[in-house]
Amino acid sequence: PQVQFSDDNARVSAVLPTGESLEILLYGATVISWKDKNGDEKLWLSDAAKLDGSKAVRGGIPLVFPVFGTAPDHAATAKLPQHGFARTSRWEFLGKSTSESAPGQAADLSVKLDFGLSSPSLDSETQAKWPYSFNLIYSVTLSRESLTTSLVVTNDDDKPFDCQVLLHTYLRVKLTNPSTPQKDIANVEITGLSSASYVDKVDGATTKTQSSALTITGETDRVYTPSTPPSDPVTVLEGGKTAFTVVRDNLSNVVVWNPWTDKAAGMADFAPKDGFKNMLCVEPGAVGTWQTLEPGDAFEGAQTIGIGY
Ligand code: BG6
Repeated sequence: PQVQFSDDNARVSAVLPTGESLEILLYGATVISWKDKNGDEKLWLSDAAKLDGSKAVRGGIPLVFPVFGTAPDHAATAKLPQHGFARTSRWEFLGKSTSESAPGQAADLSVKLDFGLSSPSLDSETQAKWPYSFNLIYSVTLSRESLTTSLVVTNDDDKPFDCQVLLHTYLRVKLTNPSTPQKDIANVEITGLSSASYVDKVDGATTKTQSSALTITGETDRVYTPSTPPSDPVTVLEGGKTAFTVVRDNLSNVVVWNPWTDKAAGMADFAPKDGFKNMLCVEPGAVGTWQTLEPGDAFEGAQTIGIGY
């Protein structure tokens, strides 16, 4: 058995012998599809998402670098658009590698796809807005039960720079339990954030503490800083069953975002308009402070999303 693979210079895809699959646009190195062995899509992608490179993709896993949101008060990144330029730049496909979970376990292959972006390949307008020499390597690993995405930022400049990174994952929320009448976000619960402090962006950026499991009952936009180790999973349950586990590596924040009715209505590329009932962004990142990278230094952060059922 072999991994099936294709690359048409705009999109790279891979299918494991066991049926799991992955599709990634070179535009933004955006993962736009991740399916399990039954062909069930795990990521939410808007029906109106632009996949032609004209706008950041609404759905999948856009990459946020070097600024989360906008930072008008941070001089070095103040000129950049919301969420920076990684998600709107064309990346280079660097290659693929496969591995077996154990020697001789060819039926249990996983595949890793590597993408690169560095300062000389940015358009001149973006270079002018953020004039640093950097190198990004983004690795996406598809295994039978999980997806890992990992970003390494290297400072290639002779001066330090500040950056933030975030993996803006749109999870697809879809109940498979036919005995549960309401098949959407109303049945979703997020655990693993209890006692974490968070900045509530829909309540004047006040700082609060999560008391128990989180449910989504309206517009939600929160930047969590869990005090638990990043290896403790944030779990998304649907109707009480684990749908996803999100484990972080070296990323101290988790953003939880759902636009709900009004914000979804206001986004031209958000469709269907009630799609917010079928999506939930759980976004591991390093966004609470700035990562200062000295010349030659690197920062690496990763997430592993496990499939619960
Ligand atoms: C989230 C932010 O990460 O991304 C939200 O916390 C923001 O504030 C959302 O609205 C979507 O951003 P964008 O730029 O893709 O519309």
